[in-house]
Amino acid sequence: MKEQLEIVKKTFGEVFGDTEGVRFFFAPGRVNLIGEHTDYNGGHVFPCAISLGTYAAVKRRQDRKIRFYSANFAAAGAIECSLDELVPSGTGRWTDYPLGVVWAFAGRGYLLPEGFDMVIYGDIPSGSGLSSSASLEVLTGYVLRTLYGFDDLTNQDLALIGQYSENEFNGMKCGIMDQFASAMGKEGNAIFLDTNTMEYEYAPVELEGMKLLITNTNKKHSLVDSEYNLRRQQCAQALADLNTRLAIGALGELSIEEYEQNKDLIGDEICRRRAKHAVYENQRTIEAVEALRANDIERFGQLMNASHVSLRDDYETSCPEADILAEEAWKLPGVLGSRITGGGFGGCTVSIVKDEAVEEFISRIGRIYEEKVGYPASFYTLEIGGGPREL
Ligand code: GLA
Repeated sequence: MKEQLEIVKKTFGEVFGDTEGVRFFFAPGRVNLIGEHTDYNGGHVFPCAISLGTYAAVKRRQDRKIRFYSANFAAAGAIECSLDELVPSGTGRWTDYPLGVVWAFAGRGYLLPEGFDMVIYGDIPSGSGLSSSASLEVLTGYVLRTLYGFDDLTNQDLALIGQYSENEFNGMKCGIMDQFASAMGKEGNAIFLDTNTMEYEYAPVELEGMKLLITNTNKKHSLVDSEYNLRRQQCAQALADLNTRLAIGALGELSIEEYEQNKDLIGDEICRRRAKHAVYENQRTIEAVEALRANDIERFGQLMNASHVSLRDDYETSCPEADILAEEAWKLPGVLGSRITGGGFGGCTVSIVKDEAVEEFISRIGRIYEEKVGYPASFYTLEIGGGPREL
């Protein structure tokens, strides 16, 4: 952490000059253990905040300007705008994320009297599906709340504002999981969230003799947002079809039996498969958390594997690269479970691996992956970190 802090501090001095009165902040990324594409279907999710995230050095200004600089996108230089010109029009630049949050604050009546200078640096690998954007949104919300004294906003509010800005300012119709996991993260714990009621519980993740491993496909993905929004539409269509007979507000309200009895109401075969995933994945998530609480990691792992199969075959948000990683992992005796995590179409897998099998996991899967895909995967041991904070 010290190194990242030094980067934002030093960069702030180089780009904006005087570092007197600069304050430092951090917000984490997330990894989802199970419960994928359930959050916009009123289902359950089970993510945790990670020790990687986004750092900021920030200082209030005395005029209406906002200046941003990212040490990750140095070539973009300092980007300047005015509090008086906030319109919801994404420019495709990285600053859409923090600006969207400033815009969403204003929409809720949280108006900034003066602007600020902000340097950020993130250590989440870009495009990895570990929610660098949600971490930047929650970071910005946390910074604004602290700098301008909007003390009535809770961390949950920061999550909702982050999601709103991503939906409306950036046009990515994401659910609440990523921002919630970042804003509400707790060290050593995953968060069992019912997105229908927003009730949540922390669940300690203590895997004796095992590690949670993240493997990055390093696949550069494109078209993710449009495919994502399409999945949302397909689920909405399935729900509308089911509503011709069933009075439900979300797919997450259905048990597996109810789904099986009524699935023929869904006219389109593709929409039926999408709904099947949403319903089954929700039930898997509930069962997985029960299994974890009972210390039945073997069952938890089996449910992770089933989640991957469902994302691959029914929801079709996996990709050949992540399939190779998961399917090779399943072959290794010391692997309890492995699945693609996050929005999909690239990004990472998450796996539970016995300590003694970690080395072989990395060398064997690393070799096979590179042979088949033509470039290497990367491996990290997951550390479940805390939520946003001032440093
Ligand atoms: C992305 C979205 C989340 C969630 C996941 C899939 O990360 O931002 O809201 O829908 O995909 O589970």
